Amino acid sequence: MRLDFAALGGAEAYRWMAATVTPRPIAWVSTCSADGIDNLAPFSFFQIVCDEPPTLMISIGNRPDGGEKDTLRNLRERGELVIQLVSAAQADAMNATSAPLPRGVSEFAHCGIETAPSERVAPPRVADAAVAFECRLASILPYPAEAPNHHIVFAEVLLAHIDEAVLADGRHVDPAKLDLVGRLGGAGYATTRDMFQLRRPG
Ligand SMILES: Cc1cc2nc3c(=O)[nH]c(=O)nc-3n(C[C@H](O)[C@H](O)[C@H](O)COP(=O)(O)O)c2cc1C
Repeated sequence: MRLDFAALGGAEAYRWMAATVTPRPIAWVSTCSADGIDNLAPFSFFQIVCDEPPTLMISIGNRPDGGEKDTLRNLRERGELVIQLVSAAQADAMNATSAPLPRGVSEFAHCGIETAPSERVAPPRVADAAVAFECRLASILPYPAEAPNHHIVFAEVLLAHIDEAVLADGRHVDPAKLDLVGRLGGAGYATTRDMFQLRRPG
């Protein structure tokens, strides 16, 4: 099978890319509006992009009506975020926070997700997240430049909270204890329970 992407619409391109570029880690992102309303939403277009400065990236698509999602609006207003990773036990709660709630309604409150205060940024953390990165907004790149339908957000990590319960020997993260989920195509998800090791050559 061959797919000529020039002949595919956006929805089909998304379907094929999202079903093949898998499993994608999920950034569970807390932000806060200028008037102090917390927001929480998942994003699987998510990666590390740099270690000096330590920088993470998420890509936020437009809403179906072409407007900007609350996460992006809040980032423009406050320039701060917390990126949590999602454990298998949190999968349902994470999914619930992807509902398109009206601006002004906090997913934390709506979905009954407990908060913990952050230290360096205003948005709260997900209290039971094993990993939370407190970040400052580094930059927002509209893409594609001529008619943006996504905004790529670069976030510099200021501080990480890592639950010691997921450490193997006090220094190394044990992926089995972390037990994260990744996004597959459609409604599919994977866990990090199936693991193996490879040594790099040389
Ligand atoms: C697992 C998962 C991954 C998602 N990944 C993305 C993504 O990478 N980019 C995006 O724009 N929306 C993504 N979404 C949809 C957003 O979470 C959804 O549009 C949400 O309502 C945005 O919330 P906000 O308006 O509060 O920012 C994802 C949803 C789920 C359930």
